[in-house]
Amino acid sequence: MTNKNGLYIHVPFCKSKCIYCDFVSFAGCEGSFDQYTDALCQEIASYKQKCRDKIFDTVYMGGGTPSVLPTFLIRKIVDSAKNAFCFDKNAEWTIEVNPATVDLQKACDLFEMGFNRVSIGMQSADDNTLKFLGRPHDKNQFEQTIQLFKQAGFENVNADFILGLPGQTKNVVSDTAKYLANLGIKHVSAYSLIVEKGTPLAKMLKQGKITLPDDDFTVDLYDTFVSEVQKLGFERYEVSNFAKPSFRSKHNENCWKYQEYIGVGLNSQSFMFGKRFANVKNLQNYINKINQGKKPVSWSQKLSVDDQAFEFVMLGLRLCDGLDTKDFKNRFGVDFFEKYHHIIKRLQQQNLVERSGDFFKVKPEKFYILNSVITEFID
Ligand SMILES: C[S@@+](CC[C@H](N)C(=O)[O-])C[C@H]1O[C@@H](n2cnc3c(N)ncnc32)[C@H](O)[C@@H]1O
Ligand code: SF4
Repeated sequence: MTNKNGLYIHVPFCKSKCIYCDFVSFAGCEGSFDQYTDALCQEIASYKQKCRDKIFDTVYMGGGTPSVLPTFLIRKIVDSAKNAFCFDKNAEWTIEVNPATVDLQKACDLFEMGFNRVSIGMQSADDNTLKFLGRPHDKNQFEQTIQLFKQAGFENVNADFILGLPGQTKNVVSDTAKYLANLGIKHVSAYSLIVEKGTPLAKMLKQGKITLPDDDFTVDLYDTFVSEVQKLGFERYEVSNFAKPSFRSKHNENCWKYQEYIGVGLNSQSFMFGKRFANVKNLQNYINKINQGKKPVSWSQKLSVDDQAFEFVMLGLRLCDGLDTKDFKNRFGVDFFEKYHHIIKRLQQQNLVERSGDFFKVKPEKFYILNSVITEFID
C-alpha cells in the first residue's frame, strides 16, 4: 500500500476575476455551482476502485476560490471524497479562501468537516493596490478573515503575496513581511508577478497605461522579502514558500518530492499509475462528459524512465534542501552523480549548485536563475 498520495480538488469559481489571473476560474457562474458539484462528486466516486490500495495523506481544495461555494456543496464534495478515498488520520486538509467569502459559521463548518489548513489570498497589504488588482476585498477584510479562522480552530494559516506589483518598494515588501508575522501567519507563499497573455493586466501594460518594476528590481524585492521573513522566523523551504517550524505545506512538498497525486475537477492534473493526465478546460464540456458517463480526461502521457528522472530533478531542485539522490537511486537504479556527471561539473564551476550529504541543491541565492539550471538537465 502506498501511503503518500495527494488529492487535489479543483473548484473553478471566483467572486470576481482579478486582472492578473489566468487560472481556470470564472466569476458570475453561481448558476453552475450545483451541476458542477454533482459532476465533481461523480468523478471522485469513479476513483474508488482504482485507488483502493492507496492511502492519501494530503487533500488540497483549490481553484479558483472554493470558499465561494455554499457550505452544503463543500460538504457534499468532502463527503464524496471520504467515501471514495482512504485518508491517513493525520492527513493535511487545505482549502483556498478569498477574504470576505467566509463568516464564522462557515469557518467552523469547514473545521468540523476536517479541514485543518487554510490558504488565504492576500496578494497585497495595500488597499489601493488591491483595488487596482480587482480584488473583491480590502486589507481589513483580510485581517478579519484570519481572525475568523483562528476562532474556528485553524492554527495552520497561509497567506499568498505577490511581488513585483506596480509601485511596490523594498520598504513595502519588508513592512508586509512584518505585518504577516504580526498576524500570526504560519506560512507564506510569495510569488513574483507573471504577466499572463490575454489578461487585463497584459492589455494595460501593452497600452502603456501602467509600468511594472523591471526584472532586476523584482529580484531585489524578492531578496528583501526573503531576508525579512527569515529574520521573523520563517524558513524558506522552496523557491516561493516560507514556513514557521513544522508548518511546511505537506501537499506541495509531496509534489516536489515526486509523490503521486490525483486531481479531480475542471482542468486538474494528475500524476499516478505511471502517467500524467489532465482534465478538460471547458466547464460545460466537463459537466457533459461526466453526465454521459465518460472520463473528462483531455490528454494523458505515459512517462518513460528518462522523463521521470528529468521530472524528479526538475521538481526536487525547487526545494531548498535539494533533491534526494538516495531516492533517485532507489527509483531509477542509477547513481545521480554518475548519470549527470558532466552537467554537475559545469554547474559547480559556475558556483550554482552544491552537494550536502545525500542531497544535491541549487544555492538559494541563485534561485532567480533556477529555470536555466533545470534546462541543463534536459537531454
Ligand atoms: C488559485 S489562486 C488561489 C487563491 C484565491 N483564489 C485568492 O486569490 O484569494 C493561487 C495564487 O496564485 C497567485 N497568482 C495567480 N495569478 C498570478 C500571477 N499572474 N502572478 C503571480 N501570482 C499569481 C496568487 O497569489 C493566488 O493567491
Ligand atoms: S487570483 Fe484567486 S480570486 Fe483572483 S481570479 Fe485568480 S483564482 Fe480567482
